Amino acid sequence: MLVQAYNLMAHAFLLFLLFTYIISTNIHACKQIERDSLLSFASTLSSPPLNWTSIDCCRWKGVTCDPDGCVTRLLLPSIGLKGGISPSLLGNLTHLTHLNLSHNSLYGSLETQFFLSLNRLEILDLSYNRLSGELPLSLPSSNIRTVDLSCNHFFGAIPSSIFQQASNLTSFNVSNNAFTGYVPSSICLHSSPSLRLLDFSSNVFSGNLALGLGKCSKLQVFRASHNNLSGLLPEDIYNATKLEEITLPLNSLHGAISDKIVNLTNLAILDLYFNHFGGELPLNLGKLSKLKFVTFDFNNLEGALPPSLMNCTNLVELHLRSNNLEGDISMLDFSKLSQLTKLDLRNNNFTGTVPISLYSCRSLKAIGLSRNHLEGQIQVEILSLKSLSFLSIGFNQFTNLTRAMKILMSCKSLHALILSAAFKGEGMPFDDDMVDFDGFQNLRILSLAGSDLTGRIPVWLSKLKNIEVLMLGDNQITGPIPSWLGTLPRLFYIDLSDNQISGEFPKQLCRLPRLIYEAEDQYELELPVFSNINTGNQLFHKLSSFPAIIDLFNNNMSGHIPTEIGQLQLLYELTLYSNNFSGVIPDQISNLKKLEVLDLSNNHLSGIIPSSLASLHFLKYFNASYNNLEGPIPTSTQLQSFNASAFVGNPKLCGVPLPNKCGPNKGIDADKKNNKDVHNGLHQLPWFYIFTALGFIVGFWGICGSLIINKTWRYTYFRFIDNLQDRVYVHINMMKKRLRG
Ligand SMILES: *[C@@H]1O[C@H](CO)[C@@H](O)[C@H](O)[C@H]1NC(C)=O
Ligand SMILES: *[C@@H]1O[C@H](CO)[C@@H](O)[C@H](O)[C@H]1NC(C)=O
Ligand SMILES: *[C@@H]1O[C@H](CO)[C@@H](O)[C@H](O)[C@H]1NC(C)=O
Ligand SMILES: *[C@@H]1O[C@H](CO)[C@@H](O)[C@H](O)[C@H]1NC(C)=O
Ligand SMILES: *[C@@H]1O[C@H](CO)[C@@H](O)[C@H](O)[C@H]1NC(C)=O
Ligand SMILES: *[C@@H]1O[C@H](CO)[C@@H](O)[C@H](O)[C@H]1NC(C)=O
Ligand SMILES: *[C@@H]1O[C@H](CO)[C@@H](O)[C@H](O)[C@H]1NC(C)=O
Ligand SMILES: *[C@@H]1O[C@H](CO)[C@@H](O)[C@H](O)[C@H]1NC(C)=O
Ligand SMILES: *[C@@H]1O[C@H](CO)[C@@H](O)[C@H](O)[C@H]1NC(C)=O
Ligand SMILES: *[C@@H]1O[C@H](CO)[C@@H](O)[C@H](O)[C@H]1NC(C)=O
Ligand SMILES: *[C@@H]1O[C@H](CO)[C@@H](O)[C@H](O)[C@H]1NC(C)=O
Ligand SMILES: *[C@@H]1O[C@H](CO)[C@@H](O)[C@H](O)[C@H]1NC(C)=O
Repeated sequence: MLVQAYNLMAHAFLLFLLFTYIISTNIHACKQIERDSLLSFASTLSSPPLNWTSIDCCRWKGVTCDPDGCVTRLLLPSIGLKGGISPSLLGNLTHLTHLNLSHNSLYGSLETQFFLSLNRLEILDLSYNRLSGELPLSLPSSNIRTVDLSCNHFFGAIPSSIFQQASNLTSFNVSNNAFTGYVPSSICLHSSPSLRLLDFSSNVFSGNLALGLGKCSKLQVFRASHNNLSGLLPEDIYNATKLEEITLPLNSLHGAISDKIVNLTNLAILDLYFNHFGGELPLNLGKLSKLKFVTFDFNNLEGALPPSLMNCTNLVELHLRSNNLEGDISMLDFSKLSQLTKLDLRNNNFTGTVPISLYSCRSLKAIGLSRNHLEGQIQVEILSLKSLSFLSIGFNQFTNLTRAMKILMSCKSLHALILSAAFKGEGMPFDDDMVDFDGFQNLRILSLAGSDLTGRIPVWLSKLKNIEVLMLGDNQITGPIPSWLGTLPRLFYIDLSDNQISGEFPKQLCRLPRLIYEAEDQYELELPVFSNINTGNQLFHKLSSFPAIIDLFNNNMSGHIPTEIGQLQLLYELTLYSNNFSGVIPDQISNLKKLEVLDLSNNHLSGIIPSSLASLHFLKYFNASYNNLEGPIPTSTQLQSFNASAFVGNPKLCGVPLPNKCGPNKGIDADKKNNKDVHNGLHQLPWFYIFTALGFIVGFWGICGSLIINKTWRYTYFRFIDNLQDRVYVHINMMKKRLRG
């Protein structure tokens, strides 16, 4: 009985298996023409193998069929496909609705034939490939909903005909290509009542934004950042009331933001940095209660902040850096902005004191107030900002630095404290409490530069075990460089220039680990440092983009340059000019293989220029003028490429590029004219530094890898606008031109 039942069940099961097999093969067995199409597609790929070998193509990886055995989906993203796609290739897959070949290395162009038979296509994602050429005159089908061609090399204008049939298009992304011509605002006129996302960012679109967007009644996201757009915002953009995001930074748009913006009640992101927008901010901007991210950095906005903004309780970031805004900020009540994490008002004309209500924004991580006309003292209430990591308040008229530092020491999260020229003419912050207190445990960057501070380098600095960047330049600091500076485990940027520091170059500085061993450093500043450039704009926020430097110029230091200096293999810049250093130039300097800037001028160095200096292949700037050096200048492609001004003022020095030839006895001293005039060394351009472009590519526009790097290479020089010492970093080529040309 049991056996029979068992048999019956086994038979039933076998039957079931057979049945499902028949069904599945019947349903999915792919059509020959589809199989051929797929195989011809696969055959054009050079790698990797797709392993499409079994009979039934509907079971192949990435392939989905309909019940009739027609391929409906081909989804092969991110599998390293390489090869050209040719126009006719997929043309026989007439039932295809989804095509996703994103994140591969496909090249070729989309000629009209590519789309010709794909008239059921709904989703087309070819992003992150190497496709190029112009776009075809129309999109494949009236069913098309999503088109993502971002991060390729497409060029040419986008023909407005392309949208003519596309009445179901919801998302169109062509960002990060090389498209030119007008942004096709007509996209909304022709068709596409269902459009939600439009992304034209990072191309070369130019001219005005034409009217038309207002007809996109469902448009939520509009991006066209990093193009060459000019003119006013189109009037009808304020009619697209579903807009949640307008992102148009890095263009040349101008005009005022209209009060009509209050009609965009869904707006959460308004990002317009690096344009020429002027006028006052709309008085009722604060009626946009959903606003989260507002970014107007680097425009020409005027007037006061609209008080209504303080009603935007959802505000997360407010960036207004580098405008012409003014008014007393102590009148503003920030207390409702409980979500606010970043407030950047740097480089405006704001007055008053830091409003106490700001200290009730408990989410704040970054505050930028530098370069305004603020005054008063830092209040102890700032300690309620438990997440505060970035504070930049330099170039104001605050008072009582010691008090401020004693308060800020307890800010546990503080990573960046930039107080350059914030407290003028006070003493270096110092008292006994500060030595005993374990504050600033997370501080990575500290600037007290440019403040005419008097006193010595305070000993509490020795407790900053995480400090990486220390800027104390341009003060009235006296006394020696303490040897403990060399024990700070992460320090790699030391600027003590323009002080009255005396004593010797401490040997201990030559043990700084970060100048000897490579280290990973992923730390990012909470607020980006923008650059201001002739040809384009960029931003970065990695501390690792800072060069490794020791700047001691314009002090009163004496003694020898220690031979141990040769250990600092990672040093990029060493500037000792205008001190009283004596002795010889140590041969060991030639171990500093990364050195690009070496300025030893205006000291009392004697002896010869070591011939090993010729092996410093990266050296881009060299100056040894006005010392007592003697003998022939070593011959090398490196040293002879600098002009004579790098060597003048050393009467006993001879050889190219100096005019005096090395005689059999000694150099002819012919160089005793009024040589200060000739001397156009680095220290007459104290704000100019060579800086490799690669260093500051990190961190911006990193989205499409190498594609973007090519674009950024076009830019020439780089400048910290305000939060550091306002130094200008000059691209190598620019530097060569200025100093040698
Ligand atoms: C598409 O089909 C046509 C015939 O219908 C054939 O000539 C052509 O070679 C096919 N293309 C591909 C890529 O298979
Ligand atoms: C094809 O098969 C090889 C060997 O099994 C495997 O390494 C490779 O990843 C497969 N290719 C794809 C696209 O799955
Ligand atoms: C294409 O595939 C990638 C990777 O799976 C996915 O992230 C992306 O959203 C897909 N594209 C579309 C339009 O669905
Ligand atoms: C648009 O999509 C809807 C359903 O989402 C469909 O009914 C309609 O036919 C599509 N329109 C066109 C022109 O394909
Ligand atoms: C467009 O594509 C880029 C790159 O793939 C992506 O970063 C961006 O978020 C997309 N835009 C929209 C609006 O989704
Ligand atoms: C940018 O636009 C201006 C005028 O709108 C034009 O003169 C210039 O050629 C454009 N630049 C590029 C790179 O297209
Ligand atoms: C915006 O919408 C208003 C009212 O709906 C209409 O009167 C006006 O013409 C539209 N503006 C533009 C520029 O389309
Ligand atoms: C803006 O909204 C007001 C009412 O809230 C309306 O009267 C006006 O027409 C709208 N303007 C536009 C340009 O849509
Ligand atoms: C802020 O909102 C309150 C309550 O909605 C309102 O009374 C007040 O007028 C608003 N303030 C400004 C400056 O708009
Ligand atoms: C600040 O205002 C003064 C005049 O009061 C003006 O000269 C200066 O350019 C303004 N600075 C900024 C950054 O707007
Ligand atoms: C600075 O603050 C301290 C309190 O920490 C106070 O005793 C001192 O008077 C203040 N100095 C000035 C100049 O305000
Ligand atoms: C420079 O240092 C010397 C001692 O090395 C000292 O005598 C002299 O006064 C100092 N000069 C200045 C301007 O500080």
